[in-house]
Amino acid sequence: MTVVLPTIADARRWVKTERDAGRTLGLAPTLGALHEGHASLFRRARAECHRVAISIFVNPTQFGAGEDYERYPRTFESDRAMAQQEGVDAIFAPDVKEMYASPGEVMVDPGRLGEVLCGASRPGHFRGVLTVVAKLFHILPADRAYFGQKDAQQLVLIQRMVAEHNFPVEIVACPTVREPDGLALSSRNRYLSAEERSNATILYRALCCAESMLKRGVRQGARLEHEMQQMICATPGAELDYARVVDRWSLQPAELIDREVLAAVAVRFGKTRLIDNLLIAPQQ
Ligand code: PAJ
Repeated sequence: MTVVLPTIADARRWVKTERDAGRTLGLAPTLGALHEGHASLFRRARAECHRVAISIFVNPTQFGAGEDYERYPRTFESDRAMAQQEGVDAIFAPDVKEMYASPGEVMVDPGRLGEVLCGASRPGHFRGVLTVVAKLFHILPADRAYFGQKDAQQLVLIQRMVAEHNFPVEIVACPTVREPDGLALSSRNRYLSAEERSNATILYRALCCAESMLKRGVRQGARLEHEMQQMICATPGAELDYARVVDRWSLQPAELIDREVLAAVAVRFGKTRLIDNLLIAPQQ
């Protein structure tokens, strides 16, 4: 049975019982609208920990003005069924008042790393993400926490928060789950029209093109970026946000590539903003 924990007190009681029994805990935070990408995190946690908790919370502090906070899909009953099917032991599902009882004055600041890539077009986004993830780590202190490579910048920021601020949790990075045509699974894919959906494969195709250019010996980051930008701009309905090749830890531009780097893209189709990335390395 999957238990639902609506309050922080419920979550603390549940964790204490499991800890007192000597069991290890895996945590996978989500916004809900669960899909196979989320399920892959739950399965990994299931394989590595005695108990698995997930959180389902559409976190208002990570959505900017004019973003999709109001219309973000809320599908709790089907999420609960999927969690149950995947063997999740507990779902922490607080409401906004429970998580932000007092106006949040003190927030976790991602610094410069929060201002590049997605942070440039979503000011304050990563501040909201780090703040809620820090809260979740304190409410559900886990041995391991599972995050997707799909959100590469989020992953790096969480890894750095944990390392730089000594959070006693191991971050486990899980590979991106894709549709057969390469589109990364995302709760936002459901917003796409049939035509946008078919054009949305451009994100993965552009990334694969950058990867094959690098394997063929093109080592200038700027050339890979230029090619990805051209491909995206030539796609009907696609509006380029960014197509970048950066160091995977500092997120600074990779000029001459001699190691594994992060190729990352963000593209708008109408009001829907999609992101994707690949870790790519030159042929040894
Ligand atoms: P959400 O977008 O629901 O994603 C929850 C977790 O699932 C994240 O770690 C994300 O990287 C992972 N994920 C999403 N799509 C994936 C895919 N196609 N393959 C593999 N993993 C995938 O990311 C968030 O929520 C929030 O910012 C959160 C961390 C919960 C903080 O509010």
